[in-house]
Amino acid sequence: MPYFDHAATTSMVPEVQKLFVEHLTQAANPSSIHNSGRKARAIVEVAREQIGRALKTHPSHIYFTAGGTEADNLAVKGLYWSRQKDKARPRILVSAIEHHAVLDPAHWLEKTSGAIVELIPVNQKGVIDLDELTKLIAKNETDVALIAVMWANNEVGSVQPIEEIVKLANAHQIPLHVDAVQAIGSLEIDLSRINLDSLAISGHKIGAPHATGLLVLRNGFKVDPVLHGGNQEPEVRSGTINTAGAAALGLAVELAVAKQAQHAARLQALRDKLIKEISSLVPDCVVNGDLENRLPGNTHFSFFGASGDSILMLLDQQGIEVSTGSACSAGVAQPSHVLMAMGVDLFHAISSVRITLGTSTTETEVNQLITKLPQAVATARLAGLNVGKKEAVKE
Ligand SMILES: Cc1ncc(COP(=O)(O)O)c(C=O)c1O
Repeated sequence: MPYFDHAATTSMVPEVQKLFVEHLTQAANPSSIHNSGRKARAIVEVAREQIGRALKTHPSHIYFTAGGTEADNLAVKGLYWSRQKDKARPRILVSAIEHHAVLDPAHWLEKTSGAIVELIPVNQKGVIDLDELTKLIAKNETDVALIAVMWANNEVGSVQPIEEIVKLANAHQIPLHVDAVQAIGSLEIDLSRINLDSLAISGHKIGAPHATGLLVLRNGFKVDPVLHGGNQEPEVRSGTINTAGAAALGLAVELAVAKQAQHAARLQALRDKLIKEISSLVPDCVVNGDLENRLPGNTHFSFFGASGDSILMLLDQQGIEVSTGSACSAGVAQPSHVLMAMGVDLFHAISSVRITLGTSTTETEVNQLITKLPQAVATARLAGLNVGKKEAVKE
C-alpha cells in the first residue's frame, strides 16, 4: 500500500525492531541495584552514549522521555518555570508555525502562570523572520524566559535558519528550545558545531518505537520537572526508564545520523520528481513552503477548488495514503495554523495535501501517485469546497 505519511510516523527499522524485542523480554528495572537491574542500567547508558556520539554532545546532556510531545512540554514548561526563580521573565517567544506540542504548553502557561506568549511571524515560505525576532528580543531582553523555534516544519517542510537563531539567542543569553523531531535523519545535526541549549527528538519518526524520545539540555540551562516521582533522570524527569525503548532509540538515532546524507539525497530526487510532474499535470496548484530549504521528503500542495480532505479520501479508496494540513472539527475542515501564519487565505489552506516520503518509499509508489492524483483532484473539484458551512452542522 503506497504510504505517503512518513512525517506522521514511519515504520520501525528492522535492526531496531530486533533489538527492541530482545530487550523487551530481558530488561529489568534500570534503577534496581541487583545484577539484572545493573544490566538494564548498562543498556540505558550505552544508548545514551550512542546518542551522544551521533549528535556530538556529551551523554550527560541527554534525557529520555516518552516521545516528542513530552520532550517539548518539558522544555517549554520546565525552562519557563526555572527561569522565574531569580526574577520574573514572563515572555515566551515562539514561532507561529510550531507544532502544537510546543504552542499549546506555551499558551497553557499563559492561562495558568502569567506567561506572555509572543508569536514570531514567518514569511510566505514558512520561514521565521529574523528581524522580527530581533525586535521582539530588543523590547526587553531581560524579561524573556525562552525562545522556541523548530528546526524544520512538520507540515510544509520549511527549514528554519537555526544557526542564526542560535547566535541571536546566545548573544542575549536566552535559552533556545529547538524541536528537531522532523529534522533528525533528514538534515545534518552536529551539536559540536551549533551551540543550542535544548533540543527535542521523537523516536517514531526515525524508525524507533512510538512513545520514545529525548530532550538534549545544555549550557547550564535547567528545567523544572513536569513529572514528579522517583527522579530517575535526575532533577529532570521521573518515571521508570523504558530500557528497551532507550536501546531502540539509541540504535535508531545512530543509524539515522549515519545514513542521513544518503537518505536525504534519495528522497530529494523522488520529491523533486513528484513536484515537477504534479505541477505540470494538475492545473491551478501550488507548492507550499520553501522550495529550496525544505525537508528532503516533504511535498505540500494546494489544489485550488478542491478540499484536501476529499482528495485524501479519494486516494485512500485506491489504497494510497496521504495527509492534509487541516484538522477536521465537527465535519468542517479547519485551516492549518501553519498555512494561516504564512498568510494564505482559507480556501488555499483547506485545499492542501501533504505528501511525505520515507525509507520505504519507492519510485514505483511515486509513479502510482503521479498517475492517480490528477484524477482525484479533478473529482474533488467537482464536489467543491466544504468551507464556511458551520451553520449546517447541528451539534
Ligand atoms: C515537529 C513535531 N514536534 C513534535 C511532535 C510530537 O512528537 P510525538 O508524536 O513523539 O509526541 C511531532 C509529531 O508529529 C512533530 O512533527
